[in-house]
Amino acid sequence: MKIVAINSSMRKGRTYELLKNIGNKLDYDFEIINLKDYNINYCLGCEVCIKKDYCVINDDVEKLKEKLINADGIIISSPVYLENISGVLKTFFDRNCKWVHRSDLIGKPVLLVSTTAGSGLNDVLDYLESVMISWGMKPCGKIGRKIQEKKDVSLDELKLFIDSIERKSKKEKIKLSRLIRFQVQKAMSTNLLDIDRIFWNKTGLINKNYFYEENTKINPISKFISNQFGNFLSKKIKENAQKVKIQGGDKIEENI
Ligand SMILES: Cc1cc2nc3c(=O)[nH]c(=O)nc-3n(C[C@H](O)[C@H](O)[C@H](O)COP(=O)(O)O)c2cc1C
Repeated sequence: MKIVAINSSMRKGRTYELLKNIGNKLDYDFEIINLKDYNINYCLGCEVCIKKDYCVINDDVEKLKEKLINADGIIISSPVYLENISGVLKTFFDRNCKWVHRSDLIGKPVLLVSTTAGSGLNDVLDYLESVMISWGMKPCGKIGRKIQEKKDVSLDELKLFIDSIERKSKKEKIKLSRLIRFQVQKAMSTNLLDIDRIFWNKTGLINKNYFYEENTKINPISKFISNQFGNFLSKKIKENAQKVKIQGGDKIEENI
């Protein structure tokens, strides 16, 4: 089993030490990727990745994506910078925004890690989780440390991550908010771009209630509500697309 841990601090500091601490507790092949050692350019906002499935920038992002795709479990970490994630991690996320439409990481276990001097820990961990959920991954815990806390990482904190990698975890309850987010992504992806529609059909996501359903528990009422919402949203997007067509389209300037 291979675990890839992303360190998005610009130094090998506390976040790196925390990742090493986690790695020592895991009996797997463990690689820490320090984003600072890679060439990662800003997203140009051209959306070619979303519309045509390739990126116009030639740097190390493709190599990093491959590492994540080939991993059995992923750890994403960030120091708190001004109540938020580090700039390089945000840039890396932006460069992978295609995964919100067509993810290569569906169902992959992910552990979220952050360090701080004092503030912003929960906000950062929640934000990391939110991005991972939009990529269809399985969130398996959050580990945060303040700099004065020298607490060793416990096996309890790693249990869900390990169990998920080993495919021994208990059924995961998918909350209504996550089902609704899935429906929003489904409605956008199946009504706006052919390339997304093909992916959602080919992968069978189009017929699912969530990105992954194996070993999950979905409350039937939540399932009903989210599906109704998805159908409503789909209808609205279709109507809107039709209106735009009749009015001659909304021209978006391409500036790459
Ligand atoms: C640019 C910058 C912004 C920071 N912003 C915050 C902050 O908003 N709140 C906070 O408590 N600590 C803040 N810190 C402190 C770091 O979160 C903390 O030292 C963290 O453990 C550093 O991780 P590292 O050693 O892996 O780089 C900031 C540090 C830097 C360099």
